[in-house]
Amino acid sequence: PKVCLAYSGGLDTSVILKWLIEQGYDVVAFMADVGQVEDFAAAEKKALAVGAVKFVVEDLKREFVEELCFRAIQCNAIFEDRYLLGTSLARPVIARAQMRVAQQNECIAVSHGCTGKGNDQVRFELAFYAIQFLVQPSIKVIAPWRLPEFFERFAGRNDLLDYSAQVGIPVTSTKAKPWSMDENLAHCSYEAGILEDPDVTPPDDMWKLTDSPLTAPNTPEEFNLSFEKGIPSKLTTASGQTLTDSVELFTTLNAIGRKHGIGRVDIVENRFIGIKSRGCYDSPAMTILRAAHVDLEGLVLDREVRALRDQFVTFNWSKLLYNGLYFSPEREFIEKSVLASQDTVNGTVRLCVYKGAVSVLGRFSETEKLYSAEESSMDSLIDFSPVDTTGFIGISKIRVAKYGQAKADAGES
Ligand code: ARG
Ligand code: SIN
Repeated sequence: PKVCLAYSGGLDTSVILKWLIEQGYDVVAFMADVGQVEDFAAAEKKALAVGAVKFVVEDLKREFVEELCFRAIQCNAIFEDRYLLGTSLARPVIARAQMRVAQQNECIAVSHGCTGKGNDQVRFELAFYAIQFLVQPSIKVIAPWRLPEFFERFAGRNDLLDYSAQVGIPVTSTKAKPWSMDENLAHCSYEAGILEDPDVTPPDDMWKLTDSPLTAPNTPEEFNLSFEKGIPSKLTTASGQTLTDSVELFTTLNAIGRKHGIGRVDIVENRFIGIKSRGCYDSPAMTILRAAHVDLEGLVLDREVRALRDQFVTFNWSKLLYNGLYFSPEREFIEKSVLASQDTVNGTVRLCVYKGAVSVLGRFSETEKLYSAEESSMDSLIDFSPVDTTGFIGISKIRVAKYGQAKADAGES
């Protein structure tokens, strides 16, 4: 029987690959290209050397950016006020592609190297079970890190290294970093190892996608970002270069953000299964895009649409993505609201990045109908009747005046 393993080329999934073979499976090693810096040829060589019957890599960058990252930007997605969801956003496209590859190769099972304590196992498996009927109805999931016969044998990193030496798995000579990483176009994440002490400051050379804001250029860099219905549609750089292709726009923003140290976050978050976990993330492009999008909405979005969206849509879309429920009825339901809120979000934001900060220099929209400089001007009373506001305040005060009266009656000051 064949199993399709989500393979990273690292120590854990190489051991899992070999272990699955020991259990009697033929293993198809699957790698997703979601924009991580990776030597895919070397990973293929390694997977085949360990004994995979086949190696498959799929380029998922475009669907990742267009379906997930841009949707996140459209609803200003953010988890617990800080995390821009880089890993959570990539899992749905990876899981979906893995199921396709499993089906194409007649695999009876899919497998992954996620630990039993994390979010990723939940994300992968809920995705598998939600889409199995569309691709491979009878699919089984093999999660080695939750199987006693696996986790009792491989209690720690040393056991993995011993086993690798014993069965001839090449261990990459580069000294392993003392934390775990997950990289894609949206971010790089850093967790575990020395970061488990939430009071340990990460060393500056940990950050893979950003240079230090402290050593960033002394001159600010300006550029323009345009949106159509809330989707990033054009980037015009300081040198006059214009990018409209989604992936190119995104990677160019990552490059700009990297240089100026944009988007580093260090938090303690609440995992779905109830454990608190310390995580560091650098997300240059997502940080810039979100700042620009939030700003443009100020100009073009109706006040009450914005308030409802902020209360219900942003929070819930972010939470369900974090919790691995992309393939769910509630995501489809809420996404209709995301799209409905974005019809007027057309325009351009002029931005500037400088030493870790992104700031807005100005914004304009050709289609906007809500903002009027004349109307908000302190120097004009055209079409505005100040005495109406006296009535507006007169009615609005009824309730608060009673509140104040009651306090006074109770002898409070
Ligand atoms: N804590 C983040 C999240 O749950 C990052 C997870 C990183 N995953 C990994 N396999 N290293 O989205
Ligand atoms: C893991 O536990 O495999 C990585 C971290 C996470 O999924 O939250």
